[in-house]
This record gives sequence, structure tokens and C-alpha cells, in this order.
Amino acid sequence: MVEEAASAPLGTQATTPRRKGRAAGLELVDLGSESPNPPRLCSGIDELDRVCGGGFVPGSAILVGGDPGIGKSTLLLQAMAKLASDSARVIYVSGEEAIDQVRRRAKRLGLSESPIALASETSLNSILDGLKSEQPSVVVIDSIQTLWSDQLTAAPGTVAQVRACAQELVRFAKKRNCTVLLVGHVTKDGQIAGPRVVEHMVDAVLYFEGERSHQFRILRAVKNRFGPTDEIGVFEMGDTGLRPISNPSALFLDGRGDAASGSVVFAGMEGTRPLLCEIQALVAPAAFGTPRRAVVGWDGGRMAMVLAVLESRCGIDLSKRDIFLNVAGGLKINEPAADLAVAAAIVSSALDVPLPSKGVVYGEISLSGDVRPVGRSESRLKEAAKLGFDQAIAPNASDDERAPIRVNSVATAYELVQGLHAMAGE
Ligand code: TYD
Ligand code: MG
Repeated sequence: MVEEAASAPLGTQATTPRRKGRAAGLELVDLGSESPNPPRLCSGIDELDRVCGGGFVPGSAILVGGDPGIGKSTLLLQAMAKLASDSARVIYVSGEEAIDQVRRRAKRLGLSESPIALASETSLNSILDGLKSEQPSVVVIDSIQTLWSDQLTAAPGTVAQVRACAQELVRFAKKRNCTVLLVGHVTKDGQIAGPRVVEHMVDAVLYFEGERSHQFRILRAVKNRFGPTDEIGVFEMGDTGLRPISNPSALFLDGRGDAASGSVVFAGMEGTRPLLCEIQALVAPAAFGTPRRAVVGWDGGRMAMVLAVLESRCGIDLSKRDIFLNVAGGLKINEPAADLAVAAAIVSSALDVPLPSKGVVYGEISLSGDVRPVGRSESRLKEAAKLGFDQAIAPNASDDERAPIRVNSVATAYELVQGLHAMAGE
């Protein structure tokens, strides 16, 4: 059960009085008429600005979600420091940490001098009152789960509180043309409401992900009313904060050893940017009972589909084998174009044939076993060429004499398996 404050439905309250002397009708305008592009507040951190679609839009509400400790506060403090030094009025409200803690972090990041106004407060009313008189252009609320509104008796962090506080802050953003950044912790148990509760209210939702054990972090836009989604920004967490990585492929392929069977480089796309990463498969005899299938960094259902195609269309018997699949470096892939790379990794491991170490693979596999073309073939091949790869296994359509590297096109998954069998025979 969720507690709600007893009030008129939002939007029908006294904030929108009906104008006098005008019929209460709809005001209609042409879709085609010109409206200017929204101005942007650029943080100067390219990886962040690109994910936002070119900077923060004034008056927008943005949710930054992520696991606790992943670096949300660090990222926002770094971005705010840049904005504040460009003369934007920035307020950072921390409900989680004391002023001293935020100061200490700023010192560590070398940002002690930046003109950010700090506050440590959790009462929504006090925050809103303060913001109204200070009139900032950007506000960070770290985090939405610590705020409480006196309209409700529920504890901070419950669905009702998180929703009510976010609603008020979003309304403040629109009314005062102030960019509001809400931090939301992803929570595993139901005790505290996660960022999903506010996703639909805000203009943009950015998720900050990564494995704690790895140094790099990925910022992903999953919703953006002012720009593209699926755009990612890559950062590396170091001693002095987050460092933007402008060439992530090099990072994800770093430390890749000599060609071993089961290892494949997938030429993927993340938003508008090509991203090369390594997919590893291990096919091992199952000890007993039902064979295991474990996937890290890719969709398990999708892998089951690829396995079914390999078994029924390509004559590879995997029924008594354990299969493990891993996307190296902790990256999460959700492109169907990875199908062919996954199939290649599994077959390579099953037959114990390494693929050419300077080759990349991409392509979608349909249930019939056909390899279907995927978008942005050219960008993928160009990125591969840039990183020193000299051949690709790709769908038919990418076979173009203008391709920057040699393309071995395959029309079906069976052709791929045949190719690997031939290599095993050599
Ligand atoms: P933080 O921004 O506090 O995470 P969140 O706000 O998402 O909970 O970052 C926490 C982690 O980042 C912490 O474990 C320490 C690490 N860190 C660094 O490695 N280098 C740094 O310069 C900073 C500020 C943090
Ligand atoms: Mg934090």
C-alpha cells in the first residue's frame, strides 16, 4: 500500500488559474511552425554532454541513477564545478553527506576553488524555499531518496515520498527554468524506492553503470526528451575522480592476449559511436545432469536462441556441454548485431579453433539461421581498421570494395561454422 497526500490531482491545483476573458478552450498551433532549439548548458565534459544530447537543457529535470558507490556524486560534482566556473549559479544539495564530506571530495578532485554553493538538507520544503530565493540555474539533489515532504507521514525513501518530492522538484524546474539533477540509488530490496519510480516524470534518465571491480564506468541515456537515447559516455575512475575516455574501444580491448579459441572481437555500436569489445565463450563437457548456461554482459534468452540455431541449423551438438559466455571488461551489450560474434565465439570454443586475432565479427542471426545485415556497417569497419584489425566476418551486405578492411561475408550461420571447420582441418 502506498500513502498519498490528500490534494487535488496535480496540474489542476491553484497554480494554473483559468485566464479571465478567454474561452476555456484549447489553443491550437501548427506543428510545422518554427520553434528555436533549446539553449544548452555545457558541462565541458564531452562524454557527459553528448549523452545529454549536447548539454543540459535549462528547465529540464534529469535523473541520474546508479548503484551506490558507483560515482554519481563524483560525476555531478565535477560537472557542476565546470558549470559554476562558467558563471552559472549552481547549488549542490546533499542529503546524504555532511558539508565536510562534500568538501573533502571536492578537495580530492582538485575542485575546492569552484564557486558551488553547498547545502546539507533533507526537508523538501526548506529546499524549495531556499531555491526560490536563490534562483540558481542548476541544482543537484543528492539523493532523491533522502528527501521528505511534510505533506506525507511516510518515511524518506518510500515510494510515496520519492514520488511526491520528485514531482515538486520537477515542477520547480519547469516553473523557474532551472535545470534540476536528481540522484537516485538503484536499490535491490523493496524497502527504498529506486529511480524507476520517477523515470516517467523527468525529461531525461541517465544511468551510471559499471562493475565495482573495474575502473571504468558507463553513463547511458535510457530516456531523453531533448536528444538521442542509447548514447553512452565512458569514464575511468581514478585517484582524482572520473576521467572521460574518448576512445573506449582501445580501453575495452586493452590487455587482450594472443588469439585463443572462444575469443572474438565484436564490432558493436553504442548510440552513434562504434565500440569494439571482446566476447569470450567457453564450451566445456558437462559433468552431470542438465548442462549449465551462464551469461555475463549479454541477454541469456538471446544466447539460448543462438544455441538453438547452432544445434538445429548447423549440426553442432551442445546438449551435453556447459556453456559460459562473458563480455570482457564488464560491458553490457544489448545489440542483436552481437549474435554472429557470440555464435563465432561458441563455435570457436566448441571446435577449439581460434579465430584470426586481427579480425572482428558482427551480424544478426535469424531463427532460420540466416545472417541478416545490421546498421552502420561502415562505422564498425572503420573503427576496426583504426584499431589495427585487418579483416571482418560480417553479413553479405557489408561486402563492399570500398570497405577499409577485408570482409569475409557470410550469408548463414552454417557458412560460419563451415569456415571454422575448414580452419580446423588446415
Ligand atoms: P561516489 O561519487 O561517492 O558514488 P555515489 O555517489 O554513486 O554513491 O563515489 C564513490 C566511490 O568512488 C568510492 O568508493 C571512492 C571512489 N572514488 C575514487 O576512486 N576516486 C575519486 O577521486 C573519488 C572522489 C571517489
Ligand atoms: Mg553519492
